[in-house]
Amino acid sequence: ITPYLHLFQGFWYSSSEIQAINTFQNHFQAKDNDIVVASVPKSGTTWLKALTFAIVKRQHFPISENHPLLVFNPHELVPPFEFVIYDETNWQVHELPKMPEPRLFGTHVPFSSLAKSIKETNTKIIYICRNLFDTFISTWVFVNRIMPEFLPALPLEEAFERYCKGIIGFGPSWNHILGYWRESIARPDKVLFLKYEDLKDDVVFNVKKIAEFLGYPFTKEEESNGVIENIIKLCSFENMKELMVNKCGTMGKGRIVENKYFFRKAEIGDWVNYFSPSMVEKLSKIIEEKFSGSDLSFRLCDLNNST
Ligand code: A3P
Repeated sequence: ITPYLHLFQGFWYSSSEIQAINTFQNHFQAKDNDIVVASVPKSGTTWLKALTFAIVKRQHFPISENHPLLVFNPHELVPPFEFVIYDETNWQVHELPKMPEPRLFGTHVPFSSLAKSIKETNTKIIYICRNLFDTFISTWVFVNRIMPEFLPALPLEEAFERYCKGIIGFGPSWNHILGYWRESIARPDKVLFLKYEDLKDDVVFNVKKIAEFLGYPFTKEEESNGVIENIIKLCSFENMKELMVNKCGTMGKGRIVENKYFFRKAEIGDWVNYFSPSMVEKLSKIIEEKFSGSDLSFRLCDLNNST
C-alpha cells in the first residue's frame, strides 16, 4: 500500500525486498526436511507460524511454562528466509545461521519466485490465505500504524484503488493465492493450502491436518492427553496477544516493528466497518473474475454472526 513499490517477476515489492528475494533465489539451499509457512501478508501468518512451531517442535518443547512461544514472537521462531540470509543494513549475503532441524521458515514470496531448491527438494510448504476484504483492511491498518515513521501511508480510497490494480506488497494478491493453490492441486504432498476462515471454524481438525501433512501426526496417547488442545490454546489470539513479548517486544534490525501490531482483532468480517457499497462491488467483481474456474471461494463473514 506504500507508494514505493516496484514490479519484479510479476509481483510488487519495495526495493529492499527485491534485493532480498534476488539473494534468496541465488543462494538459498533448501533441505529435504525444511518446512515453509507461506502467505500473503496479513492472512494469518503469525497464527500459522505459532501452530507449526508448536506442532513440529513438540518433542523438544512440550507445552509448559518455558515454551519458546511464551517468550519469542512467532516471526522470530519461524523467520522469513529471504531476510535471514540478507542483511538490509549491509547489503550483503549472510551465512544462514545454524538452525536446528527441521528448519522452519516463513515467506511472503509467491510460488513462482521461490528459490529453485525449495521446489526441487522435499521441502514442505503450508500456505495460508484469507478473504481479500479482510486481508486488505488488515494490511491497510497495519501499514498506517507502523509505517508513518518510515513512509507516508495512503488514505483508504487511494490504497484501495491501487489494491484493485494488484499494487500492494507481494501483490497482486489473487495471483499469489492462485500460484500456491495450483501447486497444492498438482502436488498435494508438497503444498498444503489452508484458509484463515477454515482454521477459525475448526482449528482442531486443521491442526491434525497440518501435523499429518508435515509428517508429525499426533499419537492416540497425545490426543487423549490434550496435547492438541494445549497447542491450540497456546497459539490462540487471546493468549498470544496478552504475552509480554507480544505486548511490548519489537523485532527487525533496520526497520523495527512492534510485535503488538501483529495482533489486532482477528475477526472475520471486520471489513464491513471500512468498505463502502461501491468498494464491495468493485472488489467482488475482481475476485469473481480472477478466481473464476479455480474452484476457490472465500467466506466474508463469521458463521456465528451471519444472518
Ligand atoms: P486483523 O488485522 O484482521 O485483526 P499476519 O499474521 O499474516 O500478519 O496476519 C495478521 C492478522 O492475523 C491480524 O488480523 C491479526 O489480528 C490476526 N492474528 C494474529 N494472531 C492470531 C492468532 N493467534 N489467531 C488468529 N488470528 C490472529
